[in-house]
Amino acid sequence: MREWHKSSWRDFPIKQQPEYKDPQSVKRVEDELAKFPPLIFAEEARSLQEKLAKAVSGEAFLLQGGDCAESFNAFNADTIKNLFKVMMQMAVVMTYSSGKPVVKVGRIAGQFAKPRSSETEAKGDMELPSYRGDIVNDADFAPEAREARPEKLIKAYYQSAATLNLLRAFSRGGMADLTKVHNWNLDFVKDKALGKRYEELAEKITQAMKFIAACGITPENTPQLHETVLYTSHEALLLGYEEALTRIDSLTGKWYDCSAHMLWIGDRTRDPEGAHIEFFRGINNPVGVKVGPSMTEDELVVLTEKLNPENIPGRLTFIVRMGADKIGEIFPPLLRRIKTEGKNVVWSCDPMHGNTFKTENGFKTREFNNILSEVKQFFQIHAAEGTVAGGIHLEMTGEDVTECTGSQSCNITVDALGSRYHTQCDPRLNANQALEMAFMISEFFKDLKS
Ligand code: PEP
Ligand code: CO
Repeated sequence: MREWHKSSWRDFPIKQQPEYKDPQSVKRVEDELAKFPPLIFAEEARSLQEKLAKAVSGEAFLLQGGDCAESFNAFNADTIKNLFKVMMQMAVVMTYSSGKPVVKVGRIAGQFAKPRSSETEAKGDMELPSYRGDIVNDADFAPEAREARPEKLIKAYYQSAATLNLLRAFSRGGMADLTKVHNWNLDFVKDKALGKRYEELAEKITQAMKFIAACGITPENTPQLHETVLYTSHEALLLGYEEALTRIDSLTGKWYDCSAHMLWIGDRTRDPEGAHIEFFRGINNPVGVKVGPSMTEDELVVLTEKLNPENIPGRLTFIVRMGADKIGEIFPPLLRRIKTEGKNVVWSCDPMHGNTFKTENGFKTREFNNILSEVKQFFQIHAAEGTVAGGIHLEMTGEDVTECTGSQSCNITVDALGSRYHTQCDPRLNANQALEMAFMISEFFKDLKS
């Protein structure tokens, strides 16, 4: 195979990149970023890969979730804290039912750049470049706003650093302490039947904690009860930014993309001959690839060979996003082929991106039942094939937004979407809907056991 370097992707065809007016200023910004400290340490990425290896064999489950796109405006401590709390809740709910550790990975601290289905957006007789995420341009529909500005890369780096700093503080500083499971229930979740269901589970955990404390095992002497790890991830779309943060690890001499622990390639940029695959094959982080309905069996096998030639468990996650109406037909042959080829992958289900539609009143939304149906089929298909459903990938927030319709806990109607529709890009599950999803997944785990 050709030699790899962190800039070798520049010789390959690339999709979904912004057009900057002045390429020299992009170069200046990238050179500056290349001098900045890494956001993660390679050893952390290796520990994530080891945990993901357990999701290949069914001894752990991956929970990956967060915003479709992080925003510069909505950047504050509360949104980070609330997402952290909901992910902790979901993790205990799923751990309790499955008896397996949940590997928590946020779409956070770097999830800014967005691929778009169209290069431009038209309103009336004005046509402007599409919004590509706050790391590139602004969402407002105005010519200045839509101009790609390289200095936004620097701002995204600093926001990622500050976000990660707070996540590390929450993870290690006591917020994740298992004697505090009640504290994770958010105010707008607490009063509902769902919140009460969570309280019952939290009470059982509290009792168990009291019991083991009486036996001498406490958060003070057992760090696992006091701390957690929430890893970071994002779609590595802007390869100039990723290259600038790609460094040689001093312990192993290997390349790591130190912008996040895990990186994934989107469904629009996963061409096996393209720049994104070239970049990804050389970095040693655990990586993901979105697998949409147009994926072929041969392409999928080529991806495993290019991205994980040594077939290391935990290195490669396939994030399946077909749509509730397509997964039943398209996914089983792909799964069988990878099984026959003996490839080690984490199979994760993204039930969001194949189920998006636009309502008559103009909102991009997703219906909870469709999301749930895709997850359910994903579990059923794995059960039928004797393979492992290894994880879930959700667009979600800890806020009380109205972006996805339905669910038992909040039953959002199409007419109610406008009341708190805040997403920067795609519609997210709110905290109630996300917690409800975790309880539903718990039922699937129980079905598997019985
Ligand atoms: C996303 O995860 O926000 C996304 C754009 O997904 P996909 O590449 O699967 O369309
Ligand atoms: Co999205």
